[in-house]
Amino acid sequence: MGRVLIIGAGGVGGVVVHKCAQVPAVFEHITLASRTLARCEHIRDDVLALTGRTIDIAQVDADNVPETVALIRKVKPDLVLNVALPYQDLTLMDACLEAGVNYLDTANYEPKDVAKFEYKWQWAYREKFEKAGLMALLGSGFDPGVTNVFCAYAQKHLFDEIHTVDIVDCNAGSHGKAFATNFNPEINLREVTARGKYWENGQWIDTEPMAISETFDFPGVGPRKAYLLYHEELESLVLHLKGLKKIRFWMTFGDEYLTHMRVLQNVGMTRIDPVMYKGQPVVPMEFLKCLLPDPSSLAAGYTGKTSIGCIVEGIKDGKPRKIFIYNICDHAECFKEVHAQAVSYTTGVPAMVGAMMMMTGSWNQKGVVHMEQLNPDPFLEKLGQHGLPWQVKEL
Ligand SMILES: NC(=O)c1ccc[n+]([C@@H]2O[C@H](COP(=O)([O-])OP(=O)(O)OC[C@H]3O[C@@H](n4cnc5c(N)ncnc54)[C@H](OP(=O)(O)O)[C@@H]3O)[C@@H](O)[C@H]2O)c1
Repeated sequence: MGRVLIIGAGGVGGVVVHKCAQVPAVFEHITLASRTLARCEHIRDDVLALTGRTIDIAQVDADNVPETVALIRKVKPDLVLNVALPYQDLTLMDACLEAGVNYLDTANYEPKDVAKFEYKWQWAYREKFEKAGLMALLGSGFDPGVTNVFCAYAQKHLFDEIHTVDIVDCNAGSHGKAFATNFNPEINLREVTARGKYWENGQWIDTEPMAISETFDFPGVGPRKAYLLYHEELESLVLHLKGLKKIRFWMTFGDEYLTHMRVLQNVGMTRIDPVMYKGQPVVPMEFLKCLLPDPSSLAAGYTGKTSIGCIVEGIKDGKPRKIFIYNICDHAECFKEVHAQAVSYTTGVPAMVGAMMMMTGSWNQKGVVHMEQLNPDPFLEKLGQHGLPWQVKEL
């Protein structure tokens, strides 16, 4: 039984609150805090209507460490669960250290003015968390998150040596809008417009954005073309998978999405540096975010499925083996359960399960920790029970 402080009342935050509210035996007391109180009020009312549970809400600017520390001291949580934006990771880690509380997030820190996914800023907190006897769990979403745990499970149970991992992410759903992103537009567009990168034989190989594509047969969805992207979990997995020779990350995009992306990029709307407009500095990407649909607003009427997993190749008992370990999630089912779409759901459920692992002591390692460094079994057991069943298919 414990207390959790959830920061960020967006699409993912809504799912996390609903899923924590469904498990009162672990999350006895829930507080949701975010920059805009009205969004917390909306989630609080929805959770009350669907689960009958009452949660506390608060307004906080998570960029402000003293303000966040004061809130943490007032709420007295066992864990701060960060589902605000990657920009808040470091200030929230600072606040947790100052207040002496464990920390969890779903996306690695990014500086606002450089679109760069690197763990170095958060790895720099390792010693501080160790010394404080606290745990900071990084990347407890789906990818990163469940994909890291799938790799740990493959390493523990299915392979003696892992040679190749392809993390494959397909959203085959339809929201009916000409163009929208499924999670925070600014973070999503920064990710997909960045240069591609993968790791082979001990080296990082850089590619032009979206320059490499391949067709994968996604369980529950069928063949889809996916594009090679750089994704943050590659950085920690290359350190923790034994015998690894190659690891890549792939994501599918529809033609409409790609055409819009190309146009927006060509006209400069995805720039993250300020331009002067009528004497005021304006960041085109931030302005674009204001125009695009809020990801949580896509949920009603979203149809189709997501299919995300890891294709792993290696050796077991002296023989070559290739498997696909994956989850299929249905947008409409998610809406029925928690009024969210599947991209928010597949992020929010693992965030809740990661928090559950920490609050029940199943995962208890001091310092800054990645998902694949921990025992995958209790996490995967609860993941299946709480809405994201997973399968292993022999290829
Ligand atoms: N690992 C994965 O699989 C995965 C997948 C998808 C998303 N994610 C991550 O999940 C996180 C949430 O995504 P989302 O789609 O829910 O985003 P979102 O809908 O934009 O929600 C973000 C929330 O954070 C709040 N926020 C922003 N800055 C804040 C600050 N300084 N102080 C307090 N609150 C602040 C926002 O407040 P306002 O309402 O005032 O804007 C908003 O409520 C992101 O970090 C994203 O990268 C991870």
